[in-house]
Order: sequence, then structure tokens, then C-alpha cells
Amino acid sequence: MSEKTSRISGFHTWSVEDRIARVADFAGLGEGERTQLAAPSNIGAELGDHMIENFITTIAIPVGVATNLKVDGRDVLVPMATEESSVVAAVGNSARQCYESGGFTTSMSGTEMIAQIQLLDVPDPHRARLVILERQAEIAEICNACDPVLVRLGGGFRGLEVRLVDTPTGTMVVTHIIVDTRDAMGANAVNTMAERLAPDIARWTGGTTLLRILSNLADRRVVRARATWTAEAIGGEKVRDAMVAAYQFADNDPYRAATHNKGIMNGISAVVLATGNDTRAVEAGAHAYAARTGRYRSLTTWEVTAEGHLAGAIELPLAVGLVGGAVKIHPTARALLAILKPGSAEELARVIASVGLAQNFGAMKALATDGIQKGHMSLHAHNIAFAAGAVGEEVGEVARRIIAAKAINEEAAGRALADLRGQ
Ligand code: MEV
Repeated sequence: MSEKTSRISGFHTWSVEDRIARVADFAGLGEGERTQLAAPSNIGAELGDHMIENFITTIAIPVGVATNLKVDGRDVLVPMATEESSVVAAVGNSARQCYESGGFTTSMSGTEMIAQIQLLDVPDPHRARLVILERQAEIAEICNACDPVLVRLGGGFRGLEVRLVDTPTGTMVVTHIIVDTRDAMGANAVNTMAERLAPDIARWTGGTTLLRILSNLADRRVVRARATWTAEAIGGEKVRDAMVAAYQFADNDPYRAATHNKGIMNGISAVVLATGNDTRAVEAGAHAYAARTGRYRSLTTWEVTAEGHLAGAIELPLAVGLVGGAVKIHPTARALLAILKPGSAEELARVIASVGLAQNFGAMKALATDGIQKGHMSLHAHNIAFAAGAVGEEVGEVARRIIAAKAINEEAAGRALADLRGQ
């Protein structure tokens, strides 16, 4: 099997060094990136102090690599930063089950961000709305002048919307500037433009501007991914139908949808974090998008194809970048991006959406068959064994014993460890 395939069996059984070596060979990483990956907890105080205020320390989150993903015909190994066990394994398992049927196919609506300018105290909001819309050409010039580099890279102002928002304290005139931010997440670019433009809007309309900030409901930056799992690959029609019923539950009950979408975000946020992007921006956008019909619904859809296979699809806004912010200065985020090698922010978003779909498949399949605790408890048992003081091979043995005794707690693990050491 070539080094360029993401189909790797038993990756979890390899040593950490062997995993890094394989991933580095797959991605053609240089010495600097290999060294960076081999050093957990790998940013120094100087960089931390530079990144945020009142810095005192860092908290290390494990990064795993999801195997078996093929996205738009390209095999990818995907770095995921998460404190939760089962998340990385679920993506690899789910992707394995659709690898032979083609993996993931994706598309994206574009890389446009919206910034909002709130205008108050206008006696004639309908007139004000048209006054602003009439200035589109001038507004385009003002916005583009804020970021000539973005314009040179093919981005910049793309459009204008003015909405009237009725509130208990009166009608507000809300201007949306729509800006293509290309490979940047774009918050800084659009916020600068909104702040620069606001005084003109106030002057043209006679109102008072207040907030000037991007919207995380980035619905002009929507990414879509789909994949088909054959009924055979997933264990038959009964499993398939149970999964569709699980999806229907989520799509029609917000209590379930919140958990279903949380599982999707387990995958999405993990890649967003590993690549130095803003997890909160992506999460806010995803949940707002899930509620866009007025009811909070599933971010995915699941149905049965004419051939009897299971077709999954996901659609959500994904504002992620490859330049700017932590992406640019965090050495581990850079090394992890080098594993993925996305040609653009759009390509990164497409991979992330595929991970979200795979994660959802894994959670639904587990829930609709064995239940989530079976797989989860075995990993949890390892954590408990570790917490009870087991080291090296003791961890697996103590975990095995407390699972067999159906007593997955630290006390039982302590006893199992003492027994093991006494033998
Ligand atoms: C746990 O982190 C995620 C799940 O609850 C997702 C789901 O219920 O679909 C397993």
C-alpha cells in the first residue's frame, strides 16, 4: 500500500514515534515540523504571552490523527485536537466504512463574510435603507481601500444588504457588508471595514451607528459534504433503517438535535482547534444555522438511496482560515496544517465538514446498535486505570479487569492494580 493512502489499519496499536513518522512521510514534513510534533506541550511562555493577555501557562490537549478519509478523491490524514476519547477513532471507523464507496464529496458556497452595522434613531428607516443601498459603489470603494492586500489576492467587497429589524425599542436599520475574505477567516478584515464605514452611514442617514461587527452566522460561507455507505458495509438494512430513525428523531426534536449536533461538533471543533482556528466562531455559526428555519434541527440529513444504501449529507457555515491569527503564529497549528496541506481555506472547510459527517455517522451507528457506552466505557476504563496509577502495560490489563468485573471506577481500578502487582 502506498504511503499516500489514508487507509491505515491498526494505527492505534503503533507507537507514538511510528505514528508521527508515518504521518510525516505521508505529508512530506520537514525536520522542523517533525520536531515540533514530537514535542507535546509545545509552545513557550514567550509566544503564549504574545498571543493573549495575563498569560500564565498553557493547557495541553491531545492531538490524534483520523485515518481512512478520502475527500473529493484525495486521501487525507486529519489532525484532531480533543480531550474526549472515542472522537478520533469514530471518524476513522466511519470513514473506513465509506472509503470503498468513494469517500466524501464536497462543495462550498464561497468564502464571503458578513459584517453588520447597527443604525439607531432614524425616523424614516425605509428611506434610510434606500439611501444606503444607493451608495453601493462608494461603499465598495471605502471597504476595498481598507484592505488592498485582500483585494490583490482576489478578495474584497462583494455586496450590500440593508435590513430593517423591528425591536421593542424601535426599528433598527442594519447594514450588511459582504466581503470575500478568501484564505483568511476574515474577522479583522470585515470589522475594520465596518468601523471605517459606520460614520458615513450615520452622516448619510442622520441616524446614530452603534455596533459594528461581523456576523458568525456566515451563511455565505456554507460548506457541504456527502457520502454513501453501502448497507453491506454498515451491517445491513436493519442498522441502516435504525440510523435513519435516529436522524429523524434529531431533526424533529430540539432536545435530541442539540446532542446530535454536539456530536458533529466533536469532530468539527477538533479540527478547527488543531488548525489554530476559532472554535467559538464555528460553533456559533453552526448552531445558528441549525435554527435557520425557526426550529433547531439536525445539521445532517440521512436517507436511503434507490439502491438501498445510506446517504448522509451535512451543510453548515465554516469560517476558517489559513492566514492570520493563531494559524499564522502557533508552530504546532502550522505543523498540523502541513499534514493536511489544504490548498485554500475552502479546501480546509471541505475536509472539516467531511469529518463532521463521519463523526455523526459514528455516533448514530453506535447509538442505534450497541449503545454508546460499550465503546466509550472501554476507553473510559483505560483513563480510570491511568488515574489509579497504572503505567505501561498495566493500563490495558487493569482496564480489562474492571470491565470484566463491571466496576469501572477508581476504587476497583486501585484494587485491580494492587492484585496485578501482587501477582
Ligand atoms: C458525545 O460526546 C456525543 C454523542 O452524544 C453524540 C450523539 O448523541 O449523537 C454520542
